[in-house]
Amino acid sequence: MTDIRFDNQVVIVTGAGGGLGRAYALDIAKRGGCVVVNDLGGTVEGHDASSALADAVVKEITDAGGRAIANYDSVATASGAESIVTAAVTAFGRVDALINNAGNMRMATLEESTQEDFEALLAVHLLGSYHMSKAVWPHMKQQGYGRLVFTASSAGMFGNQGQAFYGAAKAGVFGLMNTLSHEGEPHGILCNVIMPNAFSRMTDKASEYTDPEALKRASAILPLMQNSMQPEFSVGLAGYLASDICTTTHGAYSSCGGRIARVFVGVTEGWQGSREEPASAEEIAQHFDLIRDPKQGVHIPLSPSEEYRTVLSKSTPVCSERQGGGE
Ligand code: NAI
Repeated sequence: MTDIRFDNQVVIVTGAGGGLGRAYALDIAKRGGCVVVNDLGGTVEGHDASSALADAVVKEITDAGGRAIANYDSVATASGAESIVTAAVTAFGRVDALINNAGNMRMATLEESTQEDFEALLAVHLLGSYHMSKAVWPHMKQQGYGRLVFTASSAGMFGNQGQAFYGAAKAGVFGLMNTLSHEGEPHGILCNVIMPNAFSRMTDKASEYTDPEALKRASAILPLMQNSMQPEFSVGLAGYLASDICTTTHGAYSSCGGRIARVFVGVTEGWQGSREEPASAEEIAQHFDLIRDPKQGVHIPLSPSEEYRTVLSKSTPVCSERQGGGE
């Protein structure tokens, strides 16, 4: 097994003052990396600010003989992101990897929700990932090397009660990674996204909201997860994707209960209609089970043109073979 090391490498971990980010930062420093421990230090909802969280993690790293600096800027603004990257370059001379981990949490159903809450979550998760990626990009492009690790969530990719804003922001992060992986690959910048599952103040916040029935279900499942809800169980995945050992891009990976797995957007084999005339609603209804059925096969296109190529590789039925068609 090859040792994964970060000697002579500089890694920015956003939101590294607690939870998952702290665990990532400690591990990368232990493996020889210089770490920028960024954290705004406010509440889980994203109010207020403090230097205490980032400072405590930097102390842990330096007490153990590692190298780290603290940064307290917000990822939610372009100027904050620029300052985080400037701090890295000023202290350590370069940036090799960025783990976009910072996040806030507010819970509400659509009916209870406010635009302010929606915008607060978009600003940190989605815009924050955008601002940070944009700020590190020229440095990585110039050196022909970079690793970007984004953070999505099962609440965004699968859906979860009361998490409309959070889910929308996290699904947006997935989309950002999809495109940046195309733009980064020619420059040696690889982009992947992780979907962790860990106890943290954020999951405490989410469970405060959860309705009693869901809470009952969760309390039956969580003991079965044993230790695997500790943030350390997602550290290996984040560290691997942030390292030079990782050579793949455009991937999404879930860390859940000790199981690491690929998550993808798949397209079923579907039903092939004519390419000369549009299918009617009745034809769609007639073939809807087939359209939905993943058991016929699933494709994982990584670009619009890959989807076209998949479709065009199938023969198209001539009109006379069509059934239904609104008769
Ligand atoms: P956490 O609340 O312990 O960590 C998030 C950190 O981000 C906090 O320390 C916070 O101060 C910081 N932060 C918030 N706004 C910031 C800003 N504008 N600029 C800089 N830092 C800011 O929560 P946790 O669970 O460790 O979350 C880490 C990431 O993992 C988040 O992106 C979260 O959405 C994601 N995630 C967590 C899951 C879990 O099960 N814990 C599940 C799926 C995703």
